Amino acid sequence: MTNSQNSFTVESVGKDFSVSNKSPLKIGVLFSQSGVTSRIGQSQLQGTLLGIEEVNEAGGVDGREVIPVVYDAQSDPRQYATLAEKLIVEDRVNTIFGCYMSSSRKAVIPIIERWNKLLFFPTLYEGFEFSDNLVYTGAAPNQNSVQLAEYMTANFGARAYLIGSDYIYPWESNRIMKELILQHPESEILGERYVKLDAGEQEFKAILEDIRVKQPDFIFSTVVGDSTASLYHAYAEAGFDPRRMPIASLTTSEAEISQMQPGTSAGHFTAAPYFQSIRSDVNQRCLERFRRRFGDGCMPNLCWEAAYFQIHLFANAFRQAGSDSIHVLLPHLLGSEFQAPQGKVRIDPSNHHTCLYPRVGRVDAHGQFTIMREATRPVYPDPYLVTHSLGDWTVKLSNHIDAPNEEG
Ligand code: ACM
Repeated sequence: MTNSQNSFTVESVGKDFSVSNKSPLKIGVLFSQSGVTSRIGQSQLQGTLLGIEEVNEAGGVDGREVIPVVYDAQSDPRQYATLAEKLIVEDRVNTIFGCYMSSSRKAVIPIIERWNKLLFFPTLYEGFEFSDNLVYTGAAPNQNSVQLAEYMTANFGARAYLIGSDYIYPWESNRIMKELILQHPESEILGERYVKLDAGEQEFKAILEDIRVKQPDFIFSTVVGDSTASLYHAYAEAGFDPRRMPIASLTTSEAEISQMQPGTSAGHFTAAPYFQSIRSDVNQRCLERFRRRFGDGCMPNLCWEAAYFQIHLFANAFRQAGSDSIHVLLPHLLGSEFQAPQGKVRIDPSNHHTCLYPRVGRVDAHGQFTIMREATRPVYPDPYLVTHSLGDWTVKLSNHIDAPNEEG
């Protein structure tokens, strides 16, 4: 790797391109290696680099080595916008892979659209968005919120309390979750509170005292980044019992759990298309390659997986298109498939989102997820929730375990 300020490019690994007379293909990589969402941002970066190394080991794209130009956007939407423009104008990339918080994606979209470039976004989000210049490889609300609402209300009850970080994704994701929960006949929303992005345990203590009084059936958390650990620590400190009133989330992944004291998250729930614990050969082989290359320091998670497989989708489309100009590449990208660690994924041509496999997991004592339910077929993305409502995923799922109150 060569470093300069907050950027670096990665030199070739595994395959010698020095004899190739073809110029390398530069791509932009824009995640947060510092700031409040750096734990998950680093994992997204590493998933991206693993994908690039595999592509280069297989000969690159049309004999061209793929070279990532990497910047650290520091969990700051303004940095995302500035660096996206720098990647396009100075580094002259046509494609950027990046963003975690929806506030950063929203900051990058006008830049990407103005220059008519392409952004791959490997993160679950609130839906209700489309851009010709984006490909969304994380879950839309019909691929995680619907499943989580259904699972929690069926197994714990429909009286919920919502806590989120104070920015667009939690507000919108909570709005969707409320609409889903309120379809249940015995539902009640007992509270909805927001904390700043760097909230510590103290901020959560006051909210948890309100929760002690209101006694919901479950807490829905849209807290992101470092403060996720503070929420779960404050919950444990307050003496609550996950068997009676668990936290359910879409953003508490293996990455955030790795920032908690051991056992703190045991018994809580997350819905996601990918967990490290998926038993498939594709997943196990991918995890082995990743650990050989990056060691045990990073925690693969749903956003790591999306960051990894979107590189392969891009590379395969490039091989067919022979170009990364958006108008040449997109027709080959839309409708394309890849055998990802979660199962075979496909980019839906009509809305640029991805067909994924919803799963609900319960955290075990080691910070891994026991998969409680999972889709037997990929669920098509419906980012505007036109055709999905509470209860309709049960026909699409296989039951693995149906005893949510047992210790994991
Ligand atoms: C998010 O902000 N899309 C997690």
